[in-house]
Formats: sequence, structure tokens, C-alpha cells
Amino acid sequence: MQIIDEAKNIVLVGLMGSGKSAIGRTIAKKLGRRFIDTDRYIERKIGKTTAEVFEQDGESKFRAFEKEVIKKISQYIGIVIATGGGVIKDPENFHYLKKSGWIIALYASPATLYKRIEGKRIRPLLLNEEDPVKKLEEIFNERKTMYTQADFQIDTEGKEIDQIADEIVNLLNASSRINS
Ligand code: S3P
Repeated sequence: MQIIDEAKNIVLVGLMGSGKSAIGRTIAKKLGRRFIDTDRYIERKIGKTTAEVFEQDGESKFRAFEKEVIKKISQYIGIVIATGGGVIKDPENFHYLKKSGWIIALYASPATLYKRIEGKRIRPLLLNEEDPVKKLEEIFNERKTMYTQADFQIDTEGKEIDQIADEIVNLLNASSRINS
């Protein structure tokens, strides 16, 4: 597979559980591109999990690390980036990512999102929440105006990772053709 515009980054945004990392990794493999997951990148740099940063240093410190990382990796060329779900809350982050390439927003219902992340890596924003599905819905409502500013909107409900990755690559190829 190839993509016409090789310099542009492919940036995945969406709520936790929307599939950013798995889909991003698959797209990167298909296109022979480097893949960066911003949460894992932060964790490697500071030697703590995101959950530990939230607990020990607070969310604002995590957002500051996140912002530094976004600024840095949006200078890279031709890579695939899976962001943390809250990256787009900061308009400057959105601006940097937008300048670096295509932004693709991934969606699924709150119930599906929760089913995908339940029992997996700790998501600090859902910790001790009595109704995590409702909380996901609230977070989505807070962020939806940012997610909808992405270049492409992809519904992931009921689809396989590989199928979604192909859908995105095809969309980007079609859009590169139209704009070239
Ligand atoms: C967050 C999502 C998490 C992680 C942090 C905050 C959010 O990433 O960055 O816990 O604000 O939605 P995932 O979207 O990969 O779970």
C-alpha cells in the first residue's frame, strides 16, 4: 500500500477506547511509517505510567508533558501519531497537529468504548466513577466540538481494526488525489 502525500502525518484522535493505538499501529505497518503513541512516549520519557502521573503529579502536570510532546512530534514528517484522548482539549495542540498533517477522529458509543477498555490499562479519568459509561458520555460532550474539527470522522462501531485502517488509508489516498 502507498499513500500519495508522504510528508503529511496521520494523527488519530478520539476518546479512550476508540482504537487510536491499535488502528494507528496497523496503518503505520501497512504504510511502512514510524508510529508514535503520545501516552507511551510520555511514559518512556518520565519513567511513570500516565496513571501514576495523574495520581502523583496531577492532571495539569500530565497536560503540560503532553503539550511538550505534541509540540515536538508534530515537527516530525510522515509518521502516524496516536494521541491521548484529551490532547485536543488544548487548541494549541490541535493547531500543531493540524499543521503537521491529517487529523482523523474515531468514534464509538460510550457503552462500546467502555467494553473495550474495561479491565485494561487504568484510565485515571474513569477511576472511582460509579457510572463510567455516563462519564464517557459527559467527556464526549465536553470535547465533541474539537473532535468534529478533524479532517475525517470515522465510525468504528462493529468494525475490525484492519478494516478501519484500510478505510482510513483509502480515504487519505482519495483526498490526496483530489487535492493534487
Ligand atoms: C485521557 C486519555 C488517556 C490518557 C489520559 C487522559 C483523556 O489516553 O491520555 O488518561 O483525557 O481522555 P487514551 O485515550 O489512550 O486512553
